[in-house]
Amino acid sequence: MKQIDINEYLPKIMGELKKGILVNTKNGDKTNSMTIGWGQVGIEWGKMFFSIYVRHGRFTHEQIEATKEFTVSVPLERTPEVAKAIGYIGSRNGREIDKLTDMNLTLSDGKEVKSPAIKELPLTIECKVIYSQEQNIDNIPQEIKDSCYPQDVPSDNPMANRDYHTVYYGEIVNAYILEESDFAGVGVNSGTTVNAESGNKSPKALWITLLSILLLLACGSYIYNKFNKTQTYSTVVREEMSTVYSNTGLMNDSRVEKFVNTNPKILESVAITGIKESYSRVNGKQTIDAAITLQNKTDKPLNDIEVVINVLDKRGRVIDDIDSEDRTIEPNSDYTFNIQITDEKAASWELAEIKKEKEE
Ligand SMILES: Cc1cc2nc3c(=O)[nH]c(=O)nc-3n(C[C@H](O)[C@H](O)[C@H](O)COP(=O)(O)O)c2cc1C
Repeated sequence: MKQIDINEYLPKIMGELKKGILVNTKNGDKTNSMTIGWGQVGIEWGKMFFSIYVRHGRFTHEQIEATKEFTVSVPLERTPEVAKAIGYIGSRNGREIDKLTDMNLTLSDGKEVKSPAIKELPLTIECKVIYSQEQNIDNIPQEIKDSCYPQDVPSDNPMANRDYHTVYYGEIVNAYILEESDFAGVGVNSGTTVNAESGNKSPKALWITLLSILLLLACGSYIYNKFNKTQTYSTVVREEMSTVYSNTGLMNDSRVEKFVNTNPKILESVAITGIKESYSRVNGKQTIDAAITLQNKTDKPLNDIEVVINVLDKRGRVIDDIDSEDRTIEPNSDYTFNIQITDEKAASWELAEIKKEKEE
C-alpha cells in the first residue's frame, strides 16, 4: 500500500468522478457500494474533506446514517470490467443483494474506518463524517429541480432521481493506493485477509505456477481473439446528473457524453445522440417506452451493430434482456432502437451493451 498526498491526485480523482467512482460502506456485516458522480474535495474548519451527495432513497444513505463513515474508491485504469462494475453498482439497490460479490471485486479492510477498500479501484480515501447537511429545496433553481429531481419515478427505484440529497462531509483520515502485495494470499472478494502462510510451496514452485498461468492466459487470449469476431462494449447510461429517466427529448452530444459512462472505444465510431423514455399506464398496465438513437460518426458503414437492453425490477435485478436486430448504420446516418416494456415486474431499464462486428 502506498500512502498518498491527495493533492497530487486531484486531477485524477476529479476526472474519474465525472465518469463515476465508488463510495463504500460497512454497517455490522453488511458491506455495500454505490456509484457517485458528484462530490467535492475541499477544506473547511482547517480540515480536509471529501463531500458526497447521497439521495435520501439510497441504501447508502441508511448505511452512512448508521456508521458515519465511508471510503471512496477511484480506479486508476477504467478497464471494461471496472466500467461494468461501476455501472452495475450504480444501478442497483444494495439492501438485499451483495453488489460487490456479484461483480467479483476484491476487498480489503479499511485502516482507520470499517468501510472496505477495493483492489480493482485501488486509489482509496477513508472518510469520517463529521457534518452533514440537507439541501435547502427552496434555494434550488427551478431549472435544476426540473432536470435533477424529476418526480416521475418512485424513489424505491435505484434509478430514481426524485429525492433530494444529503451532503456528507467526510473528513479525510487516510489516503492510499492499494498494491498487489497487499493481496498476497487473499481470496477473491474474501473481504478479510487469508493467511498467506498456508501452503508449503517453495519460491521455485510458485514461479513455475505463475509462469504456467501466464502461458495459459496468453494461449486463451490468442484463441479468443482468433475465433471471437464480436466486440462488446459495456455501456451504462445511468448517471446522477442525467435526466435520462424523465427526459423525453433528444439530448445533444455533449450532454450524452456527460451522461454516458462507457468504454470510450465504442464512442470513437458510434455516438449516442438520443435517449427518450416515458413511463405510463396503458389499459391499466405499466408501460415503459424507451428509444436509443445511435449515429455512425465514421465515413464507412458500421456493420452488425446490436444494442442490448436490460430490463430491471424494482430492486435493480436484471429480469430480462432485449436485443435489437443486427443493423448496418451507414456513414452519417443513425438508427433508433425502440423498445416497449410491459412486464409488470419491470421498474426500469438500462443500456447494457453495444456490440459491433470486429474489423478484419
Ligand atoms: C455514474 C453514476 C453516478 C451516480 N452518482 C450518484 C450520486 O452522486 N449521488 C447519488 O445519490 N446517486 C448517484 N448515482 C446513483 C446510485 O449509484 C444508485 O442509485 C445506486 O443504485 C445506489 O445504491 P444503494 O441504494 O445500494 O446505495 C449514480 C449512478 C451512476 C451510474
